[in-house]
Amino acid sequence: MAMAHTCRSINFQRQVGRLSSSLMRMNQKPTLTASLLRCSASLRASLSTTTVPVTNPPDPNYRIASSKINSDRMVEVDLIPAKEMDNNWNRVRLHFPSVYLLDNCSTNFHPSTLQRLSPISQAKLDVGASAVTDDGQSLKINWDSKDVSLPDNISKFTADWLFDHSLEKVHRKKRQYHQLDQIQGLTAADFHHHVDNDPIDFSKLMADDDAELLRLWQLVWRRGLAFVINVPTNVEELGTQVTKMAEKTSYLRNTIYGEVFNVTTKPDPNNLAFTNGSLPLHTDLAYYKSPPDVQLLHCISQAGIGGESRFVDGVAAAHKLKQLHPESYDLLTKTKVRYTDKAMHSDDPFDIQAEHTVIHEEGFDGDKVVTQIFLSEASRCHEINSLGPNEVEDFYRAIVRLREIAENDPELIIEHRVEPGGMFVFNNNRMMHGRNAFEMPASSSSAPRFFHGMYIDWDGIWSRMRVLERDQSIHS
Ligand SMILES: [Fe+2]
Repeated sequence: MAMAHTCRSINFQRQVGRLSSSLMRMNQKPTLTASLLRCSASLRASLSTTTVPVTNPPDPNYRIASSKINSDRMVEVDLIPAKEMDNNWNRVRLHFPSVYLLDNCSTNFHPSTLQRLSPISQAKLDVGASAVTDDGQSLKINWDSKDVSLPDNISKFTADWLFDHSLEKVHRKKRQYHQLDQIQGLTAADFHHHVDNDPIDFSKLMADDDAELLRLWQLVWRRGLAFVINVPTNVEELGTQVTKMAEKTSYLRNTIYGEVFNVTTKPDPNNLAFTNGSLPLHTDLAYYKSPPDVQLLHCISQAGIGGESRFVDGVAAAHKLKQLHPESYDLLTKTKVRYTDKAMHSDDPFDIQAEHTVIHEEGFDGDKVVTQIFLSEASRCHEINSLGPNEVEDFYRAIVRLREIAENDPELIIEHRVEPGGMFVFNNNRMMHGRNAFEMPASSSSAPRFFHGMYIDWDGIWSRMRVLERDQSIHS
């Protein structure tokens, strides 16, 4: 069942304008805090009639067994699972500083933009909870000062909200790792099994099959590389299919090479990719501060002989380096390497430079996961800014060892000759990729090897994935 109220967005905009004007006139911090609270209270009043669709909440997962105010204005809550008979075995005790609950009270958020209305302030830091009660379903807090500007000086939180926002280390770590713990190294056997048994079907994606779209991006995030079949090749008639794929997900990432780039031979190539020679394993555009996250490569025509695509998962290679040469692994996680791409004498000169560690880890409290690899020998800069004379040789040795694993380990080397209508979708900041040399067409009437390429960033993909995952959980 949905309910709706009258929208008063114009009034809201006026209130925002008044708030901005008030801020510009204010000079003293105490005045700013008090005025902010008054303005936000005024905003809340105006928002009480904003249009907000409301849906029935799902059944709760937790119930509140007990609640109290602990020392130092800490709210202590015991939660038990709502549906288990013997739920005391799974009782969890959570602790929330009063200011955290005040800062995150639902009435402090715009009902449709979900943005916080009034910022954290000294007044909020000074306020404590005067009473805490619960009815098993939700926690009610009475604040000890009217300065908090909440309706009736009360905040309410459901048991599920409290669990989902737990500050206990075990829960914070779980949330932090929600994405990271899905990352797995990719072997050649894994990839060929995927190609032979369950490739992504482009026609399903274009038919708005959300389950297939989610499967694609989960695969790329978890394993680094997915293979797509049934991609039309008559692009002159139907348009660029990489664009359609990107737009089906989020938005395109532009770079110095344009939104859609053609990978084919060129008379005066400005990149090794545009020759018919072999391409050593690399990740693209490491010279950007934020290199593009995901690359799409759509095969429109293939060479007669040669041109096989090559991939090695940098995450899996880094894991092997750590086992074999932990000191080299350690060096590559700490040493910033400068990459560059420049064309100083062209009609449109550019000079792009950025620094990254070759192996990038993310984690929580010392538990680290390899998430990204930035490696491009062709664009590694001659400048070394993070190593002294006695450290450079060890750094070179570490690069050599990583490359030896990538180029020689049969378990990791993926070689696949894609035929027209196939598309690789891969994590560019993880999958080292290259290709074998290929023969040029025997005559000018023969189609040259030709791929369309495009980049997308994780921000848009993750947004889409979260929406799809939420929709799936609602409908399952
Ligand atoms: Fe590349």
